[in-house]
Amino acid sequence: QLQSENIAKAVLVTGGAGYIGSHTVVELIENGYECVIVDNLSNSSYDSVARLEIMTKHHIPFYKVDICDAESLGKVFKEHKIDSVIHFAGLKAVGESTQIPLRYYHNNILGTLVLLELMQQYKVSKFVFSSSATVYGDATRFPNMIPIPEECPLGPTNPYGHTKYTIESILNDLYNSDKKSWRFAILRYFNPIGAHPSGLIGEDPLGIPNNLLPYMAQVAVGRREKLYIFGDDYDSRDGTPIRDYIHVVDLAKGHIAALKYLDACNEKEGLCREWNLGSGKGSTVFEVYHAFCKASGIELPYEVTGRRAGDVLNLTAKPDRAKRELKWQTELQVDDSCKDLWKWATENLFGYQLKGVEARFST
Ligand code: NAD
Ligand code: WQD
Repeated sequence: QLQSENIAKAVLVTGGAGYIGSHTVVELIENGYECVIVDNLSNSSYDSVARLEIMTKHHIPFYKVDICDAESLGKVFKEHKIDSVIHFAGLKAVGESTQIPLRYYHNNILGTLVLLELMQQYKVSKFVFSSSATVYGDATRFPNMIPIPEECPLGPTNPYGHTKYTIESILNDLYNSDKKSWRFAILRYFNPIGAHPSGLIGEDPLGIPNNLLPYMAQVAVGRREKLYIFGDDYDSRDGTPIRDYIHVVDLAKGHIAALKYLDACNEKEGLCREWNLGSGKGSTVFEVYHAFCKASGIELPYEVTGRRAGDVLNLTAKPDRAKRELKWQTELQVDDSCKDLWKWATENLFGYQLKGVEARFST
């Protein structure tokens, strides 16, 4: 094992080339952490890593590795002194997960098992996991649980949600098997939106976007004809569903708070704990639509269609636990997210293109 003392301790960021991972790398480096990124680029491009290096003025070791490949991932543990892991790598499209469930179970669950086995082998104990509000399923079946606290009974309703639920269970089982050895932070994100205010990194979905904000951005820049609003007959203030939208930079900062919490945690006791990362404030689809029209100055064409299968009325976080224990809360509003998304969308019409960045830095 090459783990000489003069190699700086690093955070291994799986899926670090992706949307939330890349924003988290910026915050990690700003907080003095060294990062190593592992990503198979199945839903991202190396350009995001190149931009991260420009933004942070740091060399960031990058490995194009699939986390299901134990041998290749093992080499990363061998070459770096990994102190903790933030695990973003995974497939995340709810609809797609119902079409190709085996791929989702294989990628998300096997990938996490391989990672945990290597952590065990290399005695790395701190692990921050990207879970999702999707583990709650339709929380409106418990009317006294809106906004949703971490204690709300779980009930995922699609294969993607089941992978997150299963990984949470694995983490709990592993912790219970050896409480001194593990420190697990399970972060349940609500709806991450927006982009870095620099306009250099953001969400770059492949194909037709599934999510509301990226879809609106593509309509606004002329890549799609109009927005389809999936139902206005819900029991909400304007008939459209309510979500807890959170700026991706606030979300990224939540990971630093979680990591610091794990760093400070009593080594004798270990930890496995869940935290909601949300704002606690619900917005309807129409409210977000109006916020984005205001930010872009464009009245987006839209059409109300039928409900989307699997959508629920209200997913709003009760974020009190994260505020109390992690000393973290959101600082930015939906308006800020729309403004930053608009900057990202207009300066990167087709997502990641190094040319644009080179032009910006050549003067
Ligand atoms: P993303 O697709 O942009 O990032 C995930 C990254 O993981 C991608 O770069 C992809 O190439 C990589 N990846 C996937 N499988 C891999 C594998 N087997 N080996 C190596 N790399 C692999 O998605 P994101 O929005 O940044 O999401 C990050 C994490 O947060 C995911 O686990 C997702 O499930 C979770 N999450 C996302 C949201 C959301 O709305 N974006 C909400 C809740 C939870
Ligand atoms: C938001 C609202 C749609 C697109 C998803 C995952 C969840 C989590 C976050 C990963 C809903 C409406 C959307 C469109 C629309 N991801 N909408 N027209 O479904 O709340 O959450 O992302 O863990 O698991 O399910 O997000 O952005 O798809 O939808 O009207 O073209 O916008 O009906 O009410 P969702 P979303």
